[in-house]
Amino acid sequence: MRSIEQLIANQQSGYSLDQQFYTDPAVYALELERIIYQNWILAGHVSQFAESGDFRVLNVAGESAIIVRSQDGELNGFANVCRHRGSLVCLDDNGNTEKFSCPYHGWMYDLDGKLIAARNMPDDFDRESRSLKRVSVEVVHGLVFVCFTDKPLSLESCRRDLAEPMAMFDFESLKVAAQKTYDIPANWKLSIENYQECYHCATAHPEYARMHTLMLGQDRRARVQQHMQERMAACGVRDINVDFTDAAAPPGEMGYAYSRTALFEKYKTGSKDGSPVAPLLGEFTDYDHGGSDFNFGPFSFMLAYSDHIVAYVFTPIDHTNSRCEIYWMVRGDAVEGKDYDVDELTWLWDVTTISDKEIIVNNSKGVHSKYYEPGPFSEMEKEERSYIEWILRELQA
Ligand code: FES
Ligand SMILES: [Fe+2]
Repeated sequence: MRSIEQLIANQQSGYSLDQQFYTDPAVYALELERIIYQNWILAGHVSQFAESGDFRVLNVAGESAIIVRSQDGELNGFANVCRHRGSLVCLDDNGNTEKFSCPYHGWMYDLDGKLIAARNMPDDFDRESRSLKRVSVEVVHGLVFVCFTDKPLSLESCRRDLAEPMAMFDFESLKVAAQKTYDIPANWKLSIENYQECYHCATAHPEYARMHTLMLGQDRRARVQQHMQERMAACGVRDINVDFTDAAAPPGEMGYAYSRTALFEKYKTGSKDGSPVAPLLGEFTDYDHGGSDFNFGPFSFMLAYSDHIVAYVFTPIDHTNSRCEIYWMVRGDAVEGKDYDVDELTWLWDVTTISDKEIIVNNSKGVHSKYYEPGPFSEMEKEERSYIEWILRELQA
């Protein structure tokens, strides 16, 4: 086994990562410290915390966070670890509660994390010092992010530069219409690398490839793109590009990006046959036949069509397992069964993610082989390439 320094020094530019990056627990331990616990991760939408006591639990890389709306309207984040002997306090994924009661010996915490009851403790026991520990929570135009450190990266530029594109879709007043979890038995980087490139789309995703234009050659793509831009203007959609990805983010700031790409002519939105699946969002007055990409740091990505938004969150479980969480969001006032049907809404990215999972698992099996050696990236894998180059820089920092 080579040291991490040797491994990084030997990594050939323009090639996939060395096997050890995917298999070595020491690499994963460094990723936890430098990348995973340092970055913001999407944990839901404010509409999921509408009432006091509404809570959700986010599990990432062996850590667990409770996010809860307090009595006075604050959104609090706590480490889901009892201050008695360390049991998980909350075993539900989400719900509404007045207090959290530890299932082990019954210590009870209020919505501000304060210990409010502990049986049979000595008279001089100091409850005040036994509040749940905090994790960082921030809301960016309706999206709730969590970070497992006290000194998280700044979201200031992200909040400022994405304000305009996010207002276009009225992110603040969306609601989550469906949510699904896909556990992927593969290293987290393989899962995100797959999301970063569309070299595989033509071979692996017939459903996606017939509507998204990312696989087209430059000339044809420029033509459909221009057509969409004309339609965008007619539909009241602003033409904005923000590019401040993780690769370019300066120290202390989390990366982010926004762009809009044309769908093929007959597709109004990301659905089975391209027909609408929900009421138009925000400022859209009609379908421009486009789909936007939002990128919030290294783990949270979003596809924004004219009538719904699909948020992807990839997180590690451990060094050989990862998770993909998808949120399908529609206008807050849309009514299920009348304005949208969950099966129609989720169809495209559910089938695509199920086939991605299979691809990623096959990739992982091969990467673990003694015959694996890094291979060269195609021109169509440049985002993936810059993503892994960013990881290498973070590990070196
Ligand atoms: S570990 Fe929670 S009450 Fe004992
Ligand atoms: Fe894919």
